[in-house]
Amino acid sequence: MIVFPMRNSAELGRKVARHAGTGPGKDVAGCAKAELGRLETGNFPDGELYLRFMDEVAGKRVVLVQSMHPQPNDALVSVLFAARTAKELGAEKVTAVIPYLGYMRQDNRFNSGECVSNRVMATFLNQVVDRIVTIDPHMHRVKALEDLFHIERKKLSANEEIAKHIKSKFSAKASVVAGPDIESSQWAKAIADSIGFESVIFMKERFSSRHVKISVTREPEWKGKDVIIVDDIISSGHTMIEAVKEVRKRKPRAIHVICVHPIFVENAYAKILRAGARSIVSCNTILHNSNAIDLSGLIAKEL
Ligand code: R5P
Repeated sequence: MIVFPMRNSAELGRKVARHAGTGPGKDVAGCAKAELGRLETGNFPDGELYLRFMDEVAGKRVVLVQSMHPQPNDALVSVLFAARTAKELGAEKVTAVIPYLGYMRQDNRFNSGECVSNRVMATFLNQVVDRIVTIDPHMHRVKALEDLFHIERKKLSANEEIAKHIKSKFSAKASVVAGPDIESSQWAKAIADSIGFESVIFMKERFSSRHVKISVTREPEWKGKDVIIVDDIISSGHTMIEAVKEVRKRKPRAIHVICVHPIFVENAYAKILRAGARSIVSCNTILHNSNAIDLSGLIAKEL
């Protein structure tokens, strides 16, 4: 097996390769041995993608690690080019590890004439990749990866790692885990249940990308509590900002925010802190200063 960290996931990809057995004494039980591969990427003067494998891939199981943020279009095209090239060069099997799978939220033709992005994205990957591994992909209308991908696919969840993090930092008696909308219960409630924490799930109405309303439908005891709001994606941050503001009105001890995929566009990170969050922690599916929960071991075990 040879692991190629790509531009958006250089650090995570290196850790995945290390956990999969390249470093002395670093093996994780159950992981196959892997070598760390070098992939040169750049652009021609006109902006077109240039890509070159600097290590032999013939006869090997090639793993490409690339999250689809930032620059999702470039990220997707470079995975497609790299996967196709690896096959042409004789790779036995190509696995795309896409920790943050973009384009999943445009899962419907909401207005006539719109592109249903998740289906188009999957169509391309189905053609050139043998296997896809991703973490907590956004699923709403699409319920399972098999609805989009006919290739081998694996959906991993960060829940266990987030649960470990929460358990190590907070006490079950003095904390409430909250989810900002119904969909978030698959993270917030599932995580809270797994470690014996109380949870509460809010309701969200979305009027536009940057306009949401959060309603608190059940009032647990907030006084003296650490409230930990958990969601899959923080993009514009408006979901989290409104959730933080609602919780803040109830005067808990402190509000903490955890997400799987830290996109944080338009200064969302600072805005959430300004709204009243004391801390923001994320998983390293996307490189960000808030990364405190490492998922490289989880990925490596799957390879
Ligand atoms: C949507 O339902 C997701 O679970 C997130 O709540 C959403 O993507 C967050 O987006 P934003 O940060 O732009 O509100």
